[in-house]
Amino acid sequence: MESTAEKLSTMSIAGDDGWASSAPTLRRNLQILSPDQIELARMLLLEGQTHLFAHWPEAGVDDQNKKSFFEQVSRLNASYPGGLVSYIKNARNLLADSKAGKNPYDGFTPSVPSGEILTFGDDKFIKLEEEGAKEARNAAFVLVAGGLGERLGYKGIKLALPSETTTGTCFLQHYIESILALQVASCKLSQGQCETMIPLVIMTSDDTHVPTLKLLESNSYFGMKATQVKLLKQEKVACLDDNDARLALDSNDKYRIQTKPHGHGDVHALLYSSGLLTQWQKEGRKWVLFFQDTNGLLFKAIPASLGVSSTKGYHVNSLAVPRKAKEAIGGITKLTHTDGRTMVINVEYNQLDPLLRATGHADGDVNCETGFSPYPGNINQLILQLEPYIEELKKTRGAIAEFVNPKYKDSTKTSFKSSTRLECMMQDYPKTLPPSARVGFTVMDTWLAYAPVKNNPEDAAKVPKGNPYHSATSGEMAIYRANSLILRKAGVQIADPVLDVFNGQEVVVWPRITWKPKWALTFSDVKKKVGNGCSISQRSTMAVNGQNVFLDGLSVDGTLVVSAIDEAEVKVTGSVQNKGWILKHIDYKDCSLPEETLTRGFTIDKVEQLEVNHTEPGKFEFRC
Ligand code: UTP
Repeated sequence: MESTAEKLSTMSIAGDDGWASSAPTLRRNLQILSPDQIELARMLLLEGQTHLFAHWPEAGVDDQNKKSFFEQVSRLNASYPGGLVSYIKNARNLLADSKAGKNPYDGFTPSVPSGEILTFGDDKFIKLEEEGAKEARNAAFVLVAGGLGERLGYKGIKLALPSETTTGTCFLQHYIESILALQVASCKLSQGQCETMIPLVIMTSDDTHVPTLKLLESNSYFGMKATQVKLLKQEKVACLDDNDARLALDSNDKYRIQTKPHGHGDVHALLYSSGLLTQWQKEGRKWVLFFQDTNGLLFKAIPASLGVSSTKGYHVNSLAVPRKAKEAIGGITKLTHTDGRTMVINVEYNQLDPLLRATGHADGDVNCETGFSPYPGNINQLILQLEPYIEELKKTRGAIAEFVNPKYKDSTKTSFKSSTRLECMMQDYPKTLPPSARVGFTVMDTWLAYAPVKNNPEDAAKVPKGNPYHSATSGEMAIYRANSLILRKAGVQIADPVLDVFNGQEVVVWPRITWKPKWALTFSDVKKKVGNGCSISQRSTMAVNGQNVFLDGLSVDGTLVVSAIDEAEVKVTGSVQNKGWILKHIDYKDCSLPEETLTRGFTIDKVEQLEVNHTEPGKFEFRC
């Protein structure tokens, strides 16, 4: 029996004035297409995409390109829930709303949601950290790393960028070592037989997939088992040329539809379709932790936040930091609609203030008695409870509410400066949850939890005073600050920092202290590893790499590098005095230097150091 496609094809080739009549150039090419491709062609024409074929020459010319065009259409169709028909329909609706200036929060009243505000190092914090570290063996980690990083402009992937240059540890290595350290700590705390391997999923995209895989493979997965890490690649979506959602052709290749990333919201649909969530459920896992590619502090906040999720039974826990009113960071907000719907979600700062003003708060977003806005700042790291997450995804298949952000040529809003596309965000997941869902947040100090690397030096230098730079320079300095403050709280005498300017950014420079996650993950770990009478001067550098290194009565004025195998217990004591490692300013226009150095505005001149290195098992005391 003849298939529909064959019938359509013969009808049209025979000159029938059917579905293909609006695209004569396509009609004259139908014989080179497969039945599936003809179906796709039909769909495109019915969806008003005739322009895609306007330049097609007669059959026999560019046939391979024409087939490749349909291969791409087929991929775009398969990777979007509901296919291209749904994509185009959703785009038309969202573009019409955007043109009409429709407010997505119409009918909603904002209020402050409930959540936990933690103080680093107090008893409650320590208990929560212990609870979280115990729970970690029931967790799976998901790293969203498909972003282009256009603002940073780094030529490599962001995950390969050093989080700090004292040790040169890149973000991916730091993340993996943190998860492995949690794995060990969690098994120890659970006291029973425990052989769990905490899974890590990395969402990549065409822009990041190959280099991410290479980075893992060329470093033996930084100590993880290869089977423990799974890469899921997100597909891009078609770009749109106008309000009618006409798909944009690539200006360099008229047989390709231009595509752009759909946003990190894709992670939910990808996880759902991968089958991993149900596999984790079968393994008895309870939590899925989502995080981003360049936050060198995040794992300092993970144990306590997971402790909050576990003790409060949160289905969704958004990690947050204190936020000054009107500060340029989204606020976690409860929204209640006149029709009874409620949701706790991130509301962008430029929408929160007008929304508050429009709903009876004459002053909009203002600081409360704490000196901060009652709407905490979203840092886009989420902890979801697995079971309700799966239940929700069974309903939505992971589809996340999308938005469109066209840059219009003028106020008539009829044409765009450049093509646009639909996008979706990971943190919009709670939008579809029922009111019974337990959605909360955990606020921690910014110095402890959040220092992303998003901006290139030029743009960072232009950030208005008082706002975070979010550059490679500030990201690295934030790690030294956090480690210094944690040691100070543990009783180590840490000298005050100094101010300095790198790449036009004024930053606070603390001693360059780093440690591997296996040395200490929680504040209790740190306290166990440092004894009395330790001190570190501002010009000092200290790098600790070893699970059982103890610092006792140690004073450092210079550079100390300690390494020891796990089976070696080493007590380091005495006084370190040497020329140390010096931060040297560099000119970011000096092309002879590597990009990783240029982007932070300094290099470390390793003049002199004391190295303590134990490679044999046993118990040792090293007097400096
Ligand atoms: P960012 O906001 O940092 O965006 O993404 P970006 O695309 O990486 O950088 P710009 O905007 O081009 O400068 C936050 C997190 O979401 C991931 C990023 O890799 C980062 O970890 N992301 C972003 C995805 O995984 N997919 C996307 O489509 C977009």
